[in-house]
Amino acid sequence: RAEVQAKSLALSEVMTKAGEYYKQQLRSAPPAIAYLKKRGLTGEIAARFGLGFAPDAWDGLRSVFADYQAPELVEAGLVIDKSDEEGGGRKRYDRFRDRVMFPIRNTKGQIIGFGGRIMEQGEPKYLNSPETPLFQKGYELYGLFEARQAIRDAGYVLVTEGYMDVVALAQMGFPQAVATLGTACTPTHVQKLLRQTDHVVFSFDGDTAGRRAARRALDACLPHANDDKFIKFLFLPAEHDPDSFIREFGADAFEQQVHEAMPLSQFFMREMIADNDLNSAEGRAKTQFDAKPLLQAMQPSGLRLQMVRNLAQVTQTTPAEIEALFELSQPVAR
Ligand code: CTP
Ligand code: MN
Ligand code: MN
Ligand code: MN
Ligand code: MN
Repeated sequence: RAEVQAKSLALSEVMTKAGEYYKQQLRSAPPAIAYLKKRGLTGEIAARFGLGFAPDAWDGLRSVFADYQAPELVEAGLVIDKSDEEGGGRKRYDRFRDRVMFPIRNTKGQIIGFGGRIMEQGEPKYLNSPETPLFQKGYELYGLFEARQAIRDAGYVLVTEGYMDVVALAQMGFPQAVATLGTACTPTHVQKLLRQTDHVVFSFDGDTAGRRAARRALDACLPHANDDKFIKFLFLPAEHDPDSFIREFGADAFEQQVHEAMPLSQFFMREMIADNDLNSAEGRAKTQFDAKPLLQAMQPSGLRLQMVRNLAQVTQTTPAEIEALFELSQPVAR
């Protein structure tokens, strides 16, 4: 246990050094600075998020670490060891090359991972740190450290999909934004968010992936939804994400979107009836079938009762019948 802690400390030092290096490299990389400017970011906001640049070199980090062969660099996910079978002279190389770097911090502010964006067209668009002893993707939220005070001030948190969404929203007057980093929103994410605030507004991309992400977020929220939690879903036009929307339409238009966001109970009903024909007995039964695991995932609460009532209404049953059918009366052991 003590050994694990000592190692984690070393890894976090390694990440801090790398973050300093990338930040410093950005100063002497006019194309990267131009890229960030083209995306509408000011130097001030880049500094606030500690943005950096990984130069186009195979071993740029050699200048940072006395021992480029140290095992900690692999464990930190900063370099990749090429296996001998693959041959070739070079055995170890930097993971991040020629990318704009977004440091990911834990709630203490320590760098635990990076996301790197390619500036031209190319694949992958974003390269992320692998899972390491410091960095677990289903747990961390990009921007939470930077957003914590703003979340308290605003009284709610905006949950987006991407790095650029968080940074752009912060610059445009919404510093209360975080991102789930390309993974689905997990119940652990939701728990973490609800420790910061009782209002959560999901604002994913308007595309199909974003809509799917909203559905996954709904599922992740249900175990934690409660009568004093306000969880909402904001649906942007299909071709937009929060970054592109706020740049095209401005802060007031985005504020309006937040204002009009759909409450969880309404999104739930919309999802349940979307693929079902409520004019047939079979369609109404299928609606109930689809809703059953979701309502079972909820704690007994006034909100669950309201959702049961809404479901009963559209499926031509009574709340008591739904509760009996779904065995909802007792808290479900999970
Ligand atoms: N993502 C990733 N790897 C990819 C693509 C996306 O990890 N190859 C993650 C990133 O965290 C990204 C988020 O998923 O920010 C959302 O993806 P997408 O909407 O495609 O990217 P944007 O953040 O909108 O990127 P940009 O505006 O820079 O094009
Ligand atoms: Mn509140
Ligand atoms: Mn997208
Ligand atoms: Mn985008
Ligand atoms: Mn996007």
